[in-house]
Amino acid sequence: MSHNTFGHLFRVTTFGESHGPALGCVVDGCPPLIPLVETDIQAFLDKRRPGQSRFTTQRREPDAVKILSGVFVEERTGRQVTTGTPIALMIENVDQRSKDYSDIKDKYRPGHADFTYDLKYGIRDYRGGGRSSARETAARVAAGAVARRVIPEVSIRGALVQMGPHRIDRTNWDWAEVDNNPFFCPDAKAAAFFADYLDGIRKDGSSIGAVIEIVAEGVPPGWGAPVYGKLDAELAAALMSVNAVKGVEIGAGFAAAELFGKANADEIRFGNDGKPLFLSNNAGGILGGISTGQPVVARFAVKPTSSILQPRATIDRHGHETEIETKGRHDPCVGIRAVPVGEAMVACVLADAFLRHRGQIGEGRAWPFPI
Ligand SMILES: Cc1cc2nc3c(=O)[nH]c(=O)nc-3n(C[C@H](O)[C@H](O)[C@H](O)COP(=O)(O)O)c2cc1C
Repeated sequence: MSHNTFGHLFRVTTFGESHGPALGCVVDGCPPLIPLVETDIQAFLDKRRPGQSRFTTQRREPDAVKILSGVFVEERTGRQVTTGTPIALMIENVDQRSKDYSDIKDKYRPGHADFTYDLKYGIRDYRGGGRSSARETAARVAAGAVARRVIPEVSIRGALVQMGPHRIDRTNWDWAEVDNNPFFCPDAKAAAFFADYLDGIRKDGSSIGAVIEIVAEGVPPGWGAPVYGKLDAELAAALMSVNAVKGVEIGAGFAAAELFGKANADEIRFGNDGKPLFLSNNAGGILGGISTGQPVVARFAVKPTSSILQPRATIDRHGHETEIETKGRHDPCVGIRAVPVGEAMVACVLADAFLRHRGQIGEGRAWPFPI
């Protein structure tokens, strides 16, 4: 039994291992006539691609995506659009150098899925973690790019808001800064601090965790399906399924436990445009599992990279205690590269929620209701 598919109407199935010939995904349920070319997808893969700064792994993967199916050139406009049939996306693995894996072939790397995969399946692809490798997240990012085309009116942006114990100063938040530093950090001052901080961690052969925030703006009220398809529940499941994610919050999240009722419940007025306006957004744009029309805000915690240069205690598959040390370069903070992955998962969940909302409710209704 295996689970490589998520979503209901917008369904994503990913396939492939880190050291196989290729990995990718099949997106089933994407509506027809949506303009889609490879460069739409490539732009997002380039954000996740390794080797772009000294703070991410130096594995050289171009991560070039190929659309294998599900698109056709529309005669009337000359544009390539989706046909409504399955969209298969493929990314070749080109940097899977034949290395010496003898040290990790039988030993379980602490913090990795080696132990659990071996116990469960009795066989595992030890080359780079195989299916458990976060290389799989490239396929999620590709699917997320398609999802964004399904809901073009929604803007989905992610940012690194904490590294180790160091939080950004939210009063410095500037989305334009996210593309100006190697951390996807919206606070320029914090980004400058993170550079020195992470250099020190990298030189020690260690690693550190991070918190990522994803903000989706332009989500209309109504998306999300109570009670088992609540938008917050689906976002949490999708983000939690990303490698190394150990916690997810929506809106105020765990901090809500420290608030009094009046401070937490977002009061409502009308804005200048005559539309309902929440005076705060502790709910993260979701009430009762349904979007309110406010920005949808999700945050997730990424654990520190497990493959570090420091030797650690472990056991092998034959029942011996031993030690293990990861050689070569490593990502000192995988939370950085998790930013585009988190955005992609939110995009897929929202595209799916939109299609289901349209399926059940259609165009919706005029509001406010007459007396
Ligand atoms: C984008 C991304 C890149 C990652 N790269 C690495 C890596 O280079 N080294 C590592 O030890 N873990 C890396 N991880 C985390 C592991 O894939 C993950 O910890 C491991 O598969 C065990 O799964 P779990 O942490 O979800 O339990 C990465 C995670 C993400 C999201």
